[in-house]
Amino acid sequence: MSEQSTSSEVTTFENVPLRPRRIAVLTAGGDAPGMNAAIRAVIRSAAATHIDVIGVRRGYEGLIEDRFESVTGRGVANILQRGGTVLETSRSEEFRRPSGRMRALQNLRDHSVEGLVVIGGEGALQGATVFHRESGLPLMLVPASIDNDVPGTEYSIGFDTAVNTAIDAIDKVRDTMFAFERVFCIEVMGRDSGFIGLSVAIGAGAEAVVVPEIPLDIDDLCRRVEEARLRGKQASIIVVSEGPRTGGVMPIATQLERRLGIKSRIVVLGHIQRGGSPSARDRVLASRMGAEAVRALSECAAASVIGEERGAIVRTPLDHLHERQRRLDTSLIELVYRLSI
Ligand code: F6P
Repeated sequence: MSEQSTSSEVTTFENVPLRPRRIAVLTAGGDAPGMNAAIRAVIRSAAATHIDVIGVRRGYEGLIEDRFESVTGRGVANILQRGGTVLETSRSEEFRRPSGRMRALQNLRDHSVEGLVVIGGEGALQGATVFHRESGLPLMLVPASIDNDVPGTEYSIGFDTAVNTAIDAIDKVRDTMFAFERVFCIEVMGRDSGFIGLSVAIGAGAEAVVVPEIPLDIDDLCRRVEEARLRGKQASIIVVSEGPRTGGVMPIATQLERRLGIKSRIVVLGHIQRGGSPSARDRVLASRMGAEAVRALSECAAASVIGEERGAIVRTPLDHLHERQRRLDTSLIELVYRLSI
């Protein structure tokens, strides 16, 4: 439908005219570097198209608790380069319950909000999907998660920065590693997916990588480390994705030491990967996606994930996301081994 329908009171969300006059923006789930750049892009793009914006503090929890604040284009000066999220975030248990979502909806109505931009990852997407299905509220999801596992986009905001942070840390580990004959097992984040693990392993020149998508074969891993040693490698780096499917670094380090008798050390990078100033790549991506989310709302597009595919910014409606699930290219694991001769 075209924007002209604004004047005729055609509605999708109760008595809301199709083109929203006021939208809200929030960040939900784990924070990611670049969220602030996305917030800035949403607020300033809305201001440029004369749409009012309200910032909601603490994600879905803030929708329920009525943590609404009006924001201005000038008010988001000097946040583009900052990690974290100025709107704060939460993992809301209450929003999983119909009663919580009803309160959220009532608050949105009370504030005359006619569209919502959610900036977040997989969990945020699940919440947004249920909320949209129940309420009909026009909404767009801007994918921001260091895990890079959001369907409908090849890259999520924060992934690039997190990978760079982890690689930088491993470069530092390398400096000390050659002083001794050691194996370093380095645990990276990613929840259930190995996007961070695989990119970090390639970028840091690791000897091996363990990702959740491929069951751990400890015999094979020990054999590879031993072969590397026989080829003259004094020290090795093994990148291990976190989580129950890999078991994390601890059991792997123990096995390597027990079976090969090599001293091993573990490094768990943890939340360091979520912090820091966003990379140029994440700033640009967040700015493009935030602006596109506002454009999509103002064009009354179907509720969608705003994504990047082959360099272009695209919209995938929520009910088409099953066609765009994220799959790790596990053939790249072979590249890690091939390049670590
Ligand atoms: O989803 C982002 C992420 O950093 C995951 O990689 C990690 O498993 C999780 O969040 C950690 O969550 P929390 O900050 O709640 O400990």
